[in-house]
Amino acid sequence: MLKDLIIRNRSVRGYDPSVKIPRDELADMIDCARLSASSRNVQPLKYYISNEGRSVEILNGLIHYGRRLPGITLPFKGTEPPAFIVICLDTSINSSKQIFIRDVGIAAEAITLRAAELGYGACMIGNFSPDEVKAQLGFSEEIDPMLIISIGKSVEDIRLVDLGPDGNTDYYRDDAGTHFVPKRSLEDIILPSSDK
Ligand SMILES: Cc1cc2nc3c(=O)[nH]c(=O)nc-3n(C[C@H](O)[C@H](O)[C@H](O)COP(=O)(O)O)c2cc1C
Repeated sequence: MLKDLIIRNRSVRGYDPSVKIPRDELADMIDCARLSASSRNVQPLKYYISNEGRSVEILNGLIHYGRRLPGITLPFKGTEPPAFIVICLDTSINSSKQIFIRDVGIAAEAITLRAAELGYGACMIGNFSPDEVKAQLGFSEEIDPMLIISIGKSVEDIRLVDLGPDGNTDYYRDDAGTHFVPKRSLEDIILPSSDK
């Protein structure tokens, strides 16, 4: 069921290093993005796969996880992601980041849902320097990194919870390391009907 998959598709920031992700599975996740909606059907996104060697080390050095978790630096040593997909805008096709950032979100959701279906965990990462990623991975001038997705076998226990009365949406962890993600209620996010 799609809804079960969506519930399982949590942001994972700790992975089993012994589980490598084959390139063809990562390509299949990208294929799900390829087949998804695109504004004006321009399809300006390109994808970089990293699942071995130096590029994995480079990306691990450039991403930032869990800014909302004070006092914790993630990933914990030995739980670094084994693979990444970098979603890029090919500015030679169209350079409008404002328009195509929506395509990036749609692609990221398709990729992470397919990852979840294949039994992996993933995390969308916007907290990185695009210039650094571009330079260190040697992308050509027209390729601009927009979003990084880490992918691997999750070692985390993540639970969805209702938002507390204080309305704080920050995710948090307990002493056992369980990660809690508060979500607003359905009633709270559906606007009142304008129909009389
Ligand atoms: C566009 C986008 C960028 C994100 N960037 C980061 C990031 O840089 N680092 C990180 O740890 N999580 C990042 N996240 C994950 C969010 O923190 C996460 O979606 C949120 O805490 C809710 O948890 P959930 O995905 O399990 O529902 C990002 C999510 C989105 C949608």
